[in-house]
Amino acid sequence: MSNKKIGIITSGGDAPGMNAAIRAVTRAGIYSGFDVIGFRRGFKGLLDGEYINLNVRSVSGIINLGGTMLHTGRCPEMKTSVGLNKAVNIIKELDIYGMIVIGGDGSLAAGNALCKKGIKVVNIPASIDNDVYGTDETIGYDTALNTAVSAIDKIRDTATSHDRIFVVEIMGREHGFLTLDVGIAAGVEFIIVPEMKIKMEDLYSQLKKGNVRGKTSEIIAFAEGCGSSMDFAAKIAKNTGLDVRVSNLGYIQRGGTPTARTRILASQFGAYAVKLLAEGKSNLLVGLIEGRLSTTDIPTAIKKEKDFNKTAYEVLKRLSI
Ligand code: F6P
Repeated sequence: MSNKKIGIITSGGDAPGMNAAIRAVTRAGIYSGFDVIGFRRGFKGLLDGEYINLNVRSVSGIINLGGTMLHTGRCPEMKTSVGLNKAVNIIKELDIYGMIVIGGDGSLAAGNALCKKGIKVVNIPASIDNDVYGTDETIGYDTALNTAVSAIDKIRDTATSHDRIFVVEIMGREHGFLTLDVGIAAGVEFIIVPEMKIKMEDLYSQLKKGNVRGKTSEIIAFAEGCGSSMDFAAKIAKNTGLDVRVSNLGYIQRGGTPTARTRILASQFGAYAVKLLAEGKSNLLVGLIEGRLSTTDIPTAIKKEKDFNKTAYEVLKRLSI
């Protein structure tokens, strides 16, 4: 009798550590007696029947690599009933016992849709945005955090030398989780995030007061989800008369060598996801809550919003005087 088969997909935006998760799922899967296949280019690869067989050696030497060896993508077709039914048929034709989907919120939606059609799915949260409910941390987040902090450390050299205000745009489609932690770690003066409203007049007056007090350079960490950092900087320049520049950190935040912390998280999540499937469980998101591996039902993870840490936000304000 042949082994049961697990299918792996990386989906949505790439995040450092996805490779470490693929390695962990593959090795833990084989260790538990499964065959493992990897779909290429996210759900598009599943719909196209594009997959590769994974063995212990095919995932050698990838734990330290950013990106995803399987490639990834966003797949609007999975949101249609035609696309979804096609995916279900392919999974059944390939005789796949269960799917492990590595990605962010879009991947949760796809996982949920497959579960409703009777497919066993365990989701692994991976996104630099850290915006998935049910885990304190997503795969890739710590790496992006460190990348952004070291970029701001460099920007500060120019800000200081030229007595400038810098608006630094940080990724995060809808949330300011990454911006908040980057702001604290880089010691920025202000953070602008979708979760906390600010009055522009207050910001202008604080910047002007700081300037009078001899603070000649300031860094404002600006979350992508707040709109245009260029427009925001232009308003500050116009209303304060200060020298303002914008630096958009962009996709460097998604790439690069995963940190040790990211690799450990990815390895733990991968092995745990396999364990859950091996126990016959499904419809679950794995996560880390208060330092412990945990699970959340996929529908709950989709429905609930992760809390923004307002206490940490207030701490940043107190430390940036
Ligand atoms: O979800 C990760 C993320 O990098 C967001 O921070 C950003 O808004 C989005 O993906 C960009 O996506 P794309 O790769 O499609 O440009």
